[in-house]
Amino acid sequence: MTRPSDTIDESRPVQGSTLSGKARRVAALLSSRPKGWKSLLYNTAMAKARRPGPLMLPVHISIEPTNVCNLRCPVCETGNGSMERGKGLLDKAKFEKLIDQVAPHTSVLMYYFMGEPFLNKHAYENIRYAREAGLYVETCTNGDFVDAKNIIYSDLNEISFQIGGMTQETHEIYRVRSNLEKVLRNLTALIEERKKHPDSALQINVGFIVMSHNEHEVPEFLHWASELGIDQANVIDPCVRNVLEGHAMLPKDKRYWFYDEEAFERGVLRPKHVPDNECTWIWNSIMINWDGSVVPCCRDPNGHHVLGNVFETPLKKIWNGKPARDFRKRIVTNQGGVDICALCSGYGVPRLEPKRPIKFQVSRLSLDEAPIDFVFDEVEESAQFETAPTSTAP
Ligand SMILES: C[S@@+](CC[C@H](N)C(=O)[O-])C[C@H]1O[C@@H](n2cnc3c(N)ncnc32)[C@H](O)[C@@H]1O
Ligand code: SF4
Ligand code: SF4
Repeated sequence: MTRPSDTIDESRPVQGSTLSGKARRVAALLSSRPKGWKSLLYNTAMAKARRPGPLMLPVHISIEPTNVCNLRCPVCETGNGSMERGKGLLDKAKFEKLIDQVAPHTSVLMYYFMGEPFLNKHAYENIRYAREAGLYVETCTNGDFVDAKNIIYSDLNEISFQIGGMTQETHEIYRVRSNLEKVLRNLTALIEERKKHPDSALQINVGFIVMSHNEHEVPEFLHWASELGIDQANVIDPCVRNVLEGHAMLPKDKRYWFYDEEAFERGVLRPKHVPDNECTWIWNSIMINWDGSVVPCCRDPNGHHVLGNVFETPLKKIWNGKPARDFRKRIVTNQGGVDICALCSGYGVPRLEPKRPIKFQVSRLSLDEAPIDFVFDEVEESAQFETAPTSTAP
């Protein structure tokens, strides 16, 4: 599974800014993490020093609205039916209490994890509640149930529609059971609704997971996206869980792989960059499942490393509690022994746009440092866009 829509880019100019260099990075950090910048700096320093705690409270949290989904994406634990956790929906009152608890120190809420967020009927109210509490809120969706008016009402900051292809035939190979026409109808309705609310801060992105069945469509995707009226197109390197899936789904073009090609030839699936007793993500972020159970990161969809339950224990206690500190200790001393790290994409933490980008942008969710220039050559000149740099730091 991929990490949620990722990467902070603190070098990127704030809209309308004439600042440069270090001053620009500081300005971007302050504006994107208004409450949590101190904790981001402190906890990142602790991570680099390999100290498991005590930490300042996390600047990012992910909350799972539900782990139920209408689709059957084959690499997703929810979609392929291998999810080991019980299914359910996040409770509205418990969510609100949790937001009250974390709002003083959290800058960013990622409102999704292992299911379709908009299957929770309280999704829009939840998002609005978090927004009113001063959090930046982003989500990721299969697009089937997105209601344009409610999204604008919710004051959501960022939404990413994830599609699997440019035609129904290619789309549904991975997005099994999805109707592309319906998804695009909802996307277009949202673009139109946003036009009626020019003061809306909503950033609209579309993500395209590159796989063998759709890699030939990437240029068409970029061209189409550039004319759509969205803010960003994300070209996403795919995740698989084993070599068999790799043979079936990984693109022929290895530039879309975050896996080690030589190892793959020998029948071993491992990332190009195997984390070596390092991970800044879990020093700054926490994942909360729909039932309140807390796991270290999105690589633990089945809840193998539960650190506590926020509906029973304050997050403050869990964050610096023994299970969390022991887990971080294992990460810096024996990461090779931590099952979930073996296939970690290591993409980093979210890039935020405190303000909507001025121009349409293309970004990659990839371990490859290079932008996606190699695709630009194949896109007609009329497609106008600029690249958002790929970044990996917290
Ligand atoms: C589990 S989904 C939950 C949110 C929502 N249901 C969706 O699909 O967008 C979280 C993220 O995983 C991504 N994802 C699913 N399968 C993937 C794969 N095989 N490779 C890379 N990303 C994947 C989705 O596109 C989405 O961005
Ligand atoms: S739409 Fe999202 S949650 Fe649903 S099966 Fe696909 S990846 Fe999983
Ligand atoms: S899987 Fe391991 S390396 Fe990846 S984010 Fe989680 S703890 Fe960090």
